[in-house]
Amino acid sequence: MNAITSPSTGAYRIVDHTYDVVVVGAGGAGLRATLGMGAAGLKTACVTKVFPTRSHTVAAQGGISAALGNITPDDWRWHMYDTVKGSDWLGDQDAIEYMCREAIPAIYELEHFGVPFSRTEDGRIYQRPFGGHMRDYGKEPVQRACAAADRTGHAMLHTLYQQSLKHHCEFFVEYFALDLIMDEEGACRGVIAWNLEDGTMHRFRAHMVVLATGGYGRAYQSCTSAHTCTGDGGGMVLRAGLPTQDMEFVQFHPTGIFPAGCLITEGARGEGGYLTNAAGERFMERYAPTAKDLASRDVVSRSMTIEINEGRGVGPNKDHILLHLEHLGAEILAERLPGISETAKVFAGVDVTKEPIPVLPTVHYNMGGIPTNYRAEVLRPTADDPDAVVPGLMAVGEAACVSVHGANRLGTNSLLDLVVFGRAAAHRAAEIVKPGAQHAPLPARAGEAALDRLDSRRHASGGSRVADLRAELQRTMQRHAAVFRNSASLTEGVKKMKTVWGGLSDVSVTDRSLIWNTDLVEALELDNLMGNAAATMVSAEARPESRGAHAHDDYPDRNDQDWMKHTLSWVDASGDVHLGYRPVKMQTLTNEVSVFPPKKRVY
Ligand code: FUM
Repeated sequence: MNAITSPSTGAYRIVDHTYDVVVVGAGGAGLRATLGMGAAGLKTACVTKVFPTRSHTVAAQGGISAALGNITPDDWRWHMYDTVKGSDWLGDQDAIEYMCREAIPAIYELEHFGVPFSRTEDGRIYQRPFGGHMRDYGKEPVQRACAAADRTGHAMLHTLYQQSLKHHCEFFVEYFALDLIMDEEGACRGVIAWNLEDGTMHRFRAHMVVLATGGYGRAYQSCTSAHTCTGDGGGMVLRAGLPTQDMEFVQFHPTGIFPAGCLITEGARGEGGYLTNAAGERFMERYAPTAKDLASRDVVSRSMTIEINEGRGVGPNKDHILLHLEHLGAEILAERLPGISETAKVFAGVDVTKEPIPVLPTVHYNMGGIPTNYRAEVLRPTADDPDAVVPGLMAVGEAACVSVHGANRLGTNSLLDLVVFGRAAAHRAAEIVKPGAQHAPLPARAGEAALDRLDSRRHASGGSRVADLRAELQRTMQRHAAVFRNSASLTEGVKKMKTVWGGLSDVSVTDRSLIWNTDLVEALELDNLMGNAAATMVSAEARPESRGAHAHDDYPDRNDQDWMKHTLSWVDASGDVHLGYRPVKMQTLTNEVSVFPPKKRVY
């Protein structure tokens, strides 16, 4: 046991650990990386703030995409085209090719690992339609989402955890990662974490750190994300002086239960569900004549918002829309959508076999995150080299921005991203890390800055509660970085974010202990939310066009000439955001497919 001193309280007890690789986060991406690294013979630790099977992936419902063609003909190139189009041409086409091609072996691998997929009559993996997934390059909906009823994430998470245990990976459960350990050359050497159960601090030294910490949905008031989704990886990366990418693109899922916000899977519309307004009209037929209710999420969320804004919303306040499933029949609902049938009963008091569910677009996913290449290596783009890699650091899953989702993610491409890039991270680590290789020396006083931050939050005695400041942040994001944005509202949002950030110096934490101090955990999570949120607001304010999930009233068209580029955002300690840009990759990995050039996006 070592000791690190902190300015205000003296020594914190430090436990040192040495691994070949350390994965931070135990959702689908973290576990797929963990098991792959363990299987490759690397000594692997997984550090996670919640028990693995409680990670947010457990909430993923409708499916995981792959062009298996089990029910309707399919081709990975059609999947690639849909993903490029869904991304509104902000996705990197090399990475999208990789994801859509590798989807097929990655799903069969999951099947062999033991994921209990639903089955067709002849025993193949069941696949359902999902928004934006089409056949023949956009002609008509295809059945591409491999599903385990409407509990696909749950099924995957349990299987991946079991596989990780099989490969003797070591888990540090309820350890909250505080910060990366970076050396003078800019390489990552490890991570420092707080054991919430006994209050000790742990310094993990590794040749490779993999951030798999999920998104930052909790920066918003209403979201489908778990309370744990506080952008911890993005926060750590920003504090290490590295950028985040494309943070202005925040996905609203069309069918959050009104008003609770819980997810009703898009798989419900995949099975034949449809939306109506106050007049009982199936309004999606007007907005997306071909795909209708299965247009991509940004399109459906915007259409619903327009219906409400133009006075055609449902209910006494005309503030929501109805999702109909009752025509599907009790048997199909029980077999294919049991989870959401129960959620609708509990959170909306609705029996889905008899009445429609009240729904409203709700924050669901962050397309932006830590920039990586398709091998999961984190980038530190420079003017000379937009693809420069940070040695020793990877990011996967929602924490990362590869970028395969660009400006808008297609449903079921998230579970796919977790698995494909978790697996890619393991493959790459196996190439560049030699099991048991000697470690470079740790930088002097490694981890000290993280403990200073923890210590100052722990003893914070200002005038406002962490929960109140977080609520202010959430209101600001909900109001100013919403489904529709405009210049005036974004400018005001940037100003408000500065004020909200200023509130960090006046928070108070009343519990000074180190053992299960949730007050302190929430204060540290708030630091992470703030960095992500500031990057989001400023990046959005700086993009004068509409693309994917960034719908700008004052600039309703996409502007490929000037804005087909990724936004990079650095956030300093005072909350100031500095922006840069890097080109979108308009090349494929192989010549088995050609680049899809930009065109108008209609469904
Ligand atoms: O609607 C859903 O089941 C969510 C899927 C996704 O976000 O990929």
